Amino acid sequence: MDFSDTSIVITGSGLGIGRRAALEFASRGGLVTVSDLESERAEAVASEITGAGGRALAVAADVTDYDQVKALIDGTTTEFGRVDVLINNAGTSKMAMFVQTVPADWRFEIDLCLYGVMNGCHAVLPQMMERGSGKILNICSDAGRVGEPGLAAYSAAKAGVVGFTKAIAKEVARNNVLVNCLCFSAIRTEGIQAVFDAMPGMEEKMVKRYPMKRIGEPEEAVNAMMMMVSDYVTFTTGQVLSANGGYAMVG
Ligand SMILES: NC(=O)c1ccc[n+]([C@@H]2O[C@H](COP(=O)([O-])OP(=O)(O)OC[C@H]3O[C@@H](n4cnc5c(N)ncnc54)[C@H](O)[C@@H]3O)[C@@H](O)[C@H]2O)c1
Repeated sequence: MDFSDTSIVITGSGLGIGRRAALEFASRGGLVTVSDLESERAEAVASEITGAGGRALAVAADVTDYDQVKALIDGTTTEFGRVDVLINNAGTSKMAMFVQTVPADWRFEIDLCLYGVMNGCHAVLPQMMERGSGKILNICSDAGRVGEPGLAAYSAAKAGVVGFTKAIAKEVARNNVLVNCLCFSAIRTEGIQAVFDAMPGMEEKMVKRYPMKRIGEPEEAVNAMMMMVSDYVTFTTGQVLSANGGYAMVG
């Protein structure tokens, strides 16, 4: 897949799947805005890209803050002329049974995983609608499709993203703007690997629940991301795809 001269904004791309995606899109010619809450992370990834001969812009932005997200989209538009693709990837989860959580925990998840996505879409849609082209990919989780114990507020936020995506996909389809959801089950990021390293036997126990008997590798998540925003997707909108080794199979 070729992303030459395609301006792509990826939130939360200082680490994990987002970082891998930024590097991969850039290696295929993409003009990548690496954005993260942690500015050093964003700058490190952008430097890695430019050091390898690619084009990247680093922007520190907290996706829960609308003004910062607006500045991220405006800054990218100034640098690269437009935003062709927005990947709302920033998100994280903390495991705890719901009864052991407090309202501040729920607000954290909803703010980050749902409002963060809404902020990104609201900031970028006007230019995409006016231009008559654009793709938004909202990163979800199987937790939002089937519910995951220990991740109740996260599941709620991600399920919210699914409904939100379908609603705005219908609103902007006539403008040729495509909005889809991509869900993951467990993907071997630095965070998950650290848990496996700290808890021997955990990975083996977890993969028993997976039809493919393994978790996903970051490049598999990134391949699915690229596919969903590639030129091959021209008539697919408001859809929810899972890259999940068969974990959740939703009709
Ligand atoms: N890794 C998995 O197994 C898995 C499974 C299902 C879904 N997902 C989803 O995939 C996406 C990426 O997950 P990951 O595991 O690569 O994440 P990660 O925790 O490895 O990295 C997330 C990045 O987002 C940044 N971030 C956190 N809060 C932010 C904020 N408010 N504004 C901007 N950036 C912020 C962090 O600094 C970090 O660099 C998330 O939406 C996550 O919910 C991941």
